[in-house]
Amino acid sequence: MHKKANPRSILPIFFLFLFLKTHTSHGADTISANKSLSGDQTIVSAHGIFELGFFKPDGPNPSKPSLWESFDHPTDTWLPGNKMGYNKKTGEKRLVTSWRSPEDPAPGLFTLELFPSDNSFGLVRNKSDKFWSSGAWDEKLGAFSLTPVMKVNGYYNFSYVSNDNESYLKYTAFCSSCEMSRIVMHFSGQVRVLILTPNIDWRWFASLPTQLCQVYAACGAYGTCDESSLPFCSCLKGFEQKSRSNWDLEFYSDGCFRKTELQCGHNSGHGERERFLKMQNILVPKNEQFVQVENIISCESACLNNCSCTAYSFNSSGCSIWMGDLLDLQQLKAANKMGRTLYIRLAASEFQTLKHKKGLIGVVVGSAAGSVVLLVLILLLMLRRKKKAWTGTMMEGSLLAFSCKDLRNSTKNFSEKLGGGGFGSVFKGILSDSTVIAVKKLESIVQGEKQFRAEVSTIGTIQHVNLVRLRGFCSQGTKKLLVYDYMSNGSLASHLFHGSDLNILDWKTRYQIAIGTARGLAYLHEKCRECIIHCDIKPENVLLDAEFCPKVADFGLAKLIGREFSRVLTTMRGTRGYLAPEWIAGVAITSKANVYSFGMMLFELVSGMRNSKQIEANGKLKYYPSMATSVVVEGGDVVSLLDDRLEGNADEEEVERVCKVAVWCIQDDEAHRPSMGEVVQILEGIVR
Ligand SMILES: *[C@@H]1O[C@H](CO)[C@@H](O)[C@H](O)[C@H]1NC(C)=O
Ligand SMILES: *[C@@H]1O[C@H](CO)[C@@H](O)[C@H](O)[C@H]1NC(C)=O
Ligand SMILES: *[C@@H]1O[C@H](CO)[C@@H](O)[C@H](O)[C@H]1NC(C)=O
Ligand SMILES: *[C@@H]1O[C@H](CO)[C@@H](O)[C@H](O)[C@H]1NC(C)=O
Ligand SMILES: *[C@@H]1O[C@H](CO)[C@@H](O)[C@H](O)[C@H]1NC(C)=O
Ligand SMILES: *[C@@H]1O[C@H](CO)[C@@H](O)[C@H](O)[C@H]1NC(C)=O
Repeated sequence: MHKKANPRSILPIFFLFLFLKTHTSHGADTISANKSLSGDQTIVSAHGIFELGFFKPDGPNPSKPSLWESFDHPTDTWLPGNKMGYNKKTGEKRLVTSWRSPEDPAPGLFTLELFPSDNSFGLVRNKSDKFWSSGAWDEKLGAFSLTPVMKVNGYYNFSYVSNDNESYLKYTAFCSSCEMSRIVMHFSGQVRVLILTPNIDWRWFASLPTQLCQVYAACGAYGTCDESSLPFCSCLKGFEQKSRSNWDLEFYSDGCFRKTELQCGHNSGHGERERFLKMQNILVPKNEQFVQVENIISCESACLNNCSCTAYSFNSSGCSIWMGDLLDLQQLKAANKMGRTLYIRLAASEFQTLKHKKGLIGVVVGSAAGSVVLLVLILLLMLRRKKKAWTGTMMEGSLLAFSCKDLRNSTKNFSEKLGGGGFGSVFKGILSDSTVIAVKKLESIVQGEKQFRAEVSTIGTIQHVNLVRLRGFCSQGTKKLLVYDYMSNGSLASHLFHGSDLNILDWKTRYQIAIGTARGLAYLHEKCRECIIHCDIKPENVLLDAEFCPKVADFGLAKLIGREFSRVLTTMRGTRGYLAPEWIAGVAITSKANVYSFGMMLFELVSGMRNSKQIEANGKLKYYPSMATSVVVEGGDVVSLLDDRLEGNADEEEVERVCKVAVWCIQDDEAHRPSMGEVVQILEGIVR
């Protein structure tokens, strides 16, 4: 299907928008609210130099000099059919430029450009820092080398044209739901694909680069980007946001400023020198300078002795220092080996402020010491109250006992639903210390209070890197809520089936998800004291953290639900395609039922589509698992089973291994299925 509407028909929306906003009075050179401009009507500037209206390429009045046309000069918006590129004869560029800030449409920091040097397109910050590239155009492939998915995404047709006169890239949409699309060079530094929904709002569909922290200096000078926290950007200690209102609108690139200016070279008045603040696991700025010194002390003084030095870092390979503004810092997790310890230069008074605060607390505590008896009394009273009504937060074993009211507040009255399932719906919440949590509202628990608590604390003791961790709960009468760690990348299902096709999971990630999930299940089956049969393994219940590490969710709940379990099971039968035959046969269920479901999920990981979807093979409609099984059993080409969107970009041996394990797992006779422990070993390549 091709796009039917002429892209030019979208233009009126932009013109009117602009003018309704800025003009209200009547007259020949203005247009007011409730007035329209259509057909041949135009408005002309006071001195008759500029004229605004809609013009056909050869009309409406050919005798007039051709007017500047917005379509040839995209600002921050790249429309379907619009050329993005450059003119080889005149050297003129047609780039897409971000706004300066959320409220200022003047040319901003970021541009989307086509590069003559290597026939690639990419993103540039401040005219000089090229920080993201599509890879060179590959004529044979018909795609850009690093973003082959642009060719087969199923939504947009990008075409690259290079002739004697010009080189450009343009796109058309060829799915009915994305016909009204636009691509915006957003002021954050990301290119965003937006789609107009039937209820006339622009939905954010995909972005390049996919993560904000991949944008060069996304958080501006002296800001750090942290993919696992919200908001992504924060200022270094001792620095403040340049514009609070801009940061609130998710515009971070204007960065932060020093609260106390450095006094370098001058006497600070207190005779104290500037000092350095230690920050760990930082991805450091690239513009480092190396200094030949023996130890960290000489490294520090090398920085201190030069007034423009703002930071240093020392490791076994030597000393690095940074001059001028610190750009492009990232806060990494401790496990990430790219991180280094960075020392940031701050005014001496910044450290005095810290000391002063400590002193103040000392005074308060000291004066309060006189009324210790009173304090103890109040504390005892509070504890008694808490024990009765479970208000506030208390530890119970390794779990936190919350008050249900607090959880209702932290989830804004259960307003942001993350998902649902047989056991109840899950909502996003934020605790007062700004920890993001996922709160599960359990439905119709009939267990007694004591039994419920016992069961919950059993689940609380089960901890594994591939299992979603239960942090706490609340229990008040029939109200039962469970509190889990929040997984920022959502469920595997959302990436496999509903995710944007421009950033699908690559094969390496999928393989790691297969191994991780298998490890989590193997732990549940074999390592923990009370064997837990998960019972509901499907891509919806495999969650992904910020690093795409898989975590199995919902384990242990079957037992918690108790007698109500049969009702849940009925709902689960709705989730066809994952249930082992023994469920239907009504015989005793063992952990091998999970192995079956896991095998079914592996097929979806390979194909990127639901097993329940029928596909055509040799003129017959078949389900993917049965087709894949024939291919594996007959020794056919397993790569042909791979998700089309990966374009064959996968390790053939790994694909074969996953397909074989899947076939092994989904055998009707549970005795023939492997254990999860065996599955892990095969996927890790230990057993063949
Ligand atoms: C604009 O038009 C709408 C409906 O046509 C009308 O309700 C409204 O009063 C008008 N506003 C002005 C400022 O004329
Ligand atoms: C952009 O580059 C210019 C010239 O190199 C520099 O003066 C300016 O500070 C830069 N702006 C930002 C926001 O980095
Ligand atoms: C994509 O665009 C090219 C060039 O304009 C055209 O030849 C091709 O048929 C288009 N493909 C689809 C699926 O629209
Ligand atoms: C390039 O420009 C010249 C002069 O305007 C024109 O005659 C020619 O057809 C153009 N070539 C292409 C491939 O568009
Ligand atoms: C500080 O470092 C800069 C950049 O390396 C250098 O140009 C300058 O001379 C240094 N200043 C002193 C006082 O060493
Ligand atoms: C030390 O820092 C240098 C400079 O950035 C880096 O290349 C090197 O990998 C680091 N070495 C260690 C052991 O972390």
